[in-house]
Amino acid sequence: MIEAYCGAMKLLAATTLLVAACASPGGSDAPDAAVPSNTRPTGVALCYSTTASNHPAVVMFDAALRAGDRSKRAAVIESLKVAAEALPGEEQIHLMLGLAHLWRLAEPLAGEEMPSAQLPSALGARDHLKRAYELCPTDHRIAAWLGPILVRFGRTLQDQATIDEGFAVLDRGIAAYPSFVLFSRLLVFADSPRTDPAFQTALGAVVENIDACAATPGDPACTNSIVPHNREGAALFLGDVLAKNGSRSEAEAAYSDAKAGADFPSWSYQPELTARIQGLDDRIARHENTDPSDDPPVAWAATTQCAFCHTQ
Ligand code: HEC
Repeated sequence: MIEAYCGAMKLLAATTLLVAACASPGGSDAPDAAVPSNTRPTGVALCYSTTASNHPAVVMFDAALRAGDRSKRAAVIESLKVAAEALPGEEQIHLMLGLAHLWRLAEPLAGEEMPSAQLPSALGARDHLKRAYELCPTDHRIAAWLGPILVRFGRTLQDQATIDEGFAVLDRGIAAYPSFVLFSRLLVFADSPRTDPAFQTALGAVVENIDACAATPGDPACTNSIVPHNREGAALFLGDVLAKNGSRSEAEAAYSDAKAGADFPSWSYQPELTARIQGLDDRIARHENTDPSDDPPVAWAATTQCAFCHTQ
């Protein structure tokens, strides 16, 4: 899901292959207009129907997410539940219901943080994402959402079988759709201590994600073609993981590259990014010292983590 940042890429150590991908014609330096838009890897296909896409519950969810309006979410979930009962065979309806629950898990409103509110959404996200993937086994984007849900579920319940199931879902998705699903490998390891090998796995995933995006120009996983600020939001995640690793110049390049994009001026989270560039040394120092209580806020734990990419 990370835009192929050639600027950042040239600075990343030990990634000569990425630099080569960047320099090649049709690589990510090519303007978006020059490549076919909304192309996905062979074998990846959604199973959306006009009925589902135009369904009022789906339209309402899309509008609420674009507006970053969490106050509409409860009504969106209720409408999607009714729709899923009426149209049980529609991938898109189950997928949207699962994602609306995921939105609540990631960006809870006041009063939604406690386990009694989170548990029904964790179950709702898991069950409807699973159903959507069964209905449409070629929509490998679903692995990016379902895998982390299962891993977190398993970690919370200390249930190794569920953790393993989550990683198996992620691996299947990554094999089919790396430019989209690798991003989720970052999400499941980014909270590990920076010296832990698991954290290095998160870092490796973002580097691989950049590579996968360079290989598929025009893929909506890597551009702003479907999600209005995918590129800017991804830069925050990328910069934050690089800063946590202490990779100063790479982090700065990742943040700065987002500022160069055509959609930066219309992005609501410009101050977050600018502050990160200005306070980069402090951010790195707070990650590096041994006191976890002063660690800086990170994109993957923010209660605006969906909004970074999805708010219009
Ligand atoms: C780094 C940017 C980024 C973040 C963060 C992000 N998304 Fe997305 N989201 C995307 C991209 C890219 C797509 C894929 C569009 C496509 O390929 O069809 C997408 C797709 C979606 C879709 C639409 C699926 C469809 O086919 O209509 C929903 C709903 C969604 N995301 C919800 C969320 C929620 C909820 C969160 C927070 C838990 C979130 N997203 C976090 C970038 C992001």
